[in-house]
Amino acid sequence: MYWVNSESDSNPTASNPAEFEREVATGQRFEFGQNWRRFLSVLNEERIANAIQSLQQQLGLDRLDGLQFCDAGSGSGLFSLAARRLGATVHSFDFDPSSVGCTQELKRRYFADDPHWTIQPASVLDTDYLRTLGQFDVVYSWGVLHHTGAMWQAIENVTMLVVPKGRLFIALYNDQGWLSRMWLAVKRAYCCCTLGRWAMTVTWVPGFFARMCVASLVAGRNKFAAYHHERGMSPVHDWIDWIGGLPFEVAKPDDVIRFHEQRGFELFKLTRTKSLGCNQFVFQMKRSPRDERTQNMSYRVEHAASKRGSFGVYRYCIYQGDCLIAHYWHDHRGDEHGIEFVNGLSEDCPVGRMTDFLEGGGPEPLRLSDSAIAYLTRKQHVKS
Ligand SMILES: C[S@@+](CC[C@H](N)C(=O)[O-])C[C@H]1O[C@@H](n2cnc3c(N)ncnc32)[C@H](O)[C@@H]1O
Repeated sequence: MYWVNSESDSNPTASNPAEFEREVATGQRFEFGQNWRRFLSVLNEERIANAIQSLQQQLGLDRLDGLQFCDAGSGSGLFSLAARRLGATVHSFDFDPSSVGCTQELKRRYFADDPHWTIQPASVLDTDYLRTLGQFDVVYSWGVLHHTGAMWQAIENVTMLVVPKGRLFIALYNDQGWLSRMWLAVKRAYCCCTLGRWAMTVTWVPGFFARMCVASLVAGRNKFAAYHHERGMSPVHDWIDWIGGLPFEVAKPDDVIRFHEQRGFELFKLTRTKSLGCNQFVFQMKRSPRDERTQNMSYRVEHAASKRGSFGVYRYCIYQGDCLIAHYWHDHRGDEHGIEFVNGLSEDCPVGRMTDFLEGGGPEPLRLSDSAIAYLTRKQHVKS
């Protein structure tokens, strides 16, 4: 069993495993992690490549180098792995200990001992925990927020993790009216007891199988083989996830879009489902004039008043308001760079390359990139 183990990065506000066990025992929660554990036995390079491609297409980004990526509700860990392969620094968390264990297993298989991928057990409803994370360039929470038991609160929480101009990629179950209420009854029956699980599986899995066979005949192509091209998933594991997935809530696309617009996001991409399953939303956080002012008040960068030789390092001072908080430096090529906080903390290569940290310069005003601001915000959180 992949269970959250001692290798998990320490989380002082870890989700309560006893609460998870209680919800499972009382039939309120499906054990997603157990299903993901079975999925890992069929994971291969082709599925990983499909997951990477789906991430690139939806986010409209070829690479994620130098970006901070948060996978909220990481499940199998496949999309954390995809983001890491695309160059992002990844933070994954999940409420289900077995899902955390699966994500750790993928890290062990493909990125063992990698400092740029952290994994923790935590709930997206735990705002104290989320506050410790700071903000991210990309927040990914696919098929998670409707399984928390407090969907709108969970959506609100992930919006706060996104840096200005950052992207939020979420997928939420489509509201199908009475049909959604029928599926809720199926899921409750599945989770209530062994008999319910058995009865729902033998009733619905053959139904889904038959539906896909008919769809293959009508389309003239093998829909089973085509399924994993979309996100690298497997139909059987997704059917089980669908039949059992409790808690379960649904949302209408227009409500989701309005909710985000009211919080300063604009819709970047919408992929609607025609029936059951998820609508996928990619939002981009706008930078309002107020944010701009707040950002300028928060952090600014200036050249340090020091002499440098032709190939010496360039030095800068970073201020928060009027207070000097750090010195930043890079070599003449911009390959090597680092930061020294006035409290003694120092780090090499805080984000990507120097050009991912500083923008402008020359004839343009020098400024900190959004990734640099997210990085500084995170470090300031850690400090306080
Ligand atoms: C259907 S899976 C999706 C996994 C993954 N995001 C993906 O795209 O494949 C839903 C995941 O959400 C997790 N989850 C449910 N409630 C959660 C919560 N409150 N906080 C964090 N994760 C949660 C479940 O444990 C499960 O691993």
